[in-house]
Amino acid sequence: MAKPPSPPKMTAGASPRMPAGAMPRPGGSPKAPAPNSGASAAQIELAPRVPSGIPGFDELCEGGLEKGSSTLCLGEPGSGKTTFMSQFLVNGALEHGEGGVFLSFEESKESIVRHSLSFGWDFQQLEKEGAVSVITYKPHEVRRLAEEGGGLIWDTINETGAQRIAIDSLSAYVVLFETAYAAREAQRNLFELVHKWNCTTLLSGEAGDSEGRNSSGMDYLADAVVLLHHPRQRNVRFRALEILKMRGTNHSQKICPFEFISGEGMRVYPGEDIFEEFKTREGF
Ligand SMILES: Nc1ncnc2c1ncn2[C@@H]1O[C@H](COP(=O)(O)OP(=O)(O)O)[C@@H](O)[C@H]1O
Ligand SMILES: [Mg+2]
Repeated sequence: MAKPPSPPKMTAGASPRMPAGAMPRPGGSPKAPAPNSGASAAQIELAPRVPSGIPGFDELCEGGLEKGSSTLCLGEPGSGKTTFMSQFLVNGALEHGEGGVFLSFEESKESIVRHSLSFGWDFQQLEKEGAVSVITYKPHEVRRLAEEGGGLIWDTINETGAQRIAIDSLSAYVVLFETAYAAREAQRNLFELVHKWNCTTLLSGEAGDSEGRNSSGMDYLADAVVLLHHPRQRNVRFRALEILKMRGTNHSQKICPFEFISGEGMRVYPGEDIFEEFKTREGF
């Protein structure tokens, strides 16, 4: 079977405060006030950042996700949503002492545990240590979550002191709601709950249209939107990632290649371009 070409090794080491393809903040140096605004350096200081745990990603967004923000990860099946969110939780627990909650409407706990092992992440062990809690809801139980207002999750956050949450996925969450209106309301209510929990949260969803956005419009409720692309070029698929929006952040506008590495996880290449041929074909 033909092996897709690996993205070239990262060469450009962009500064965390200068994302690839991004403009400098007004005033250039952090000490200089922004021209014409009268704003002091303190006033243009960034909100606290949370490292994503994805090598290369934080260079695209001034050092990471905004603490306490909500980020939608959108992409087709197999584009890497679950992996992105798992890596965020595992890295938070192991490298930054930030507990996490993995809330899944899609996969069973057994499936999550088994598949994560191929990247070297042991959710069973992390659960034993109280570092990450995995909570799964079957489709028919989703209504209960909506009715109880997320009581179990709130209790888990309080008991464990979790600061990171991954919700996988919005699409599976709304599958049992009869009308588009009910589904939209349910998603809206979930976002309200998420903001009350006050954790840094990732939510996954299916890409809804040719632009890769969620057709149900939830991208307007999220603080940030990350698109995971997986387009085909002849007989090979490529992987690339872009930050469509991130409130309050001078983020990169670039579509960057990434790859999955066994025993490691995802790695983004901010200094590399997606392949010329692929750009032409996909209209990027
Ligand atoms: N150990 C691994 N090494 C390399 N790639 C992997 C490994 N495990 C899974 N993958 C890739 O990741 C894909 C699954 O990504 P996933 O995060 O589950 O996507 P999504 O949640 O968007 O459906 C698989 O289809 C496979 O291509
Ligand atoms: Mg998934």
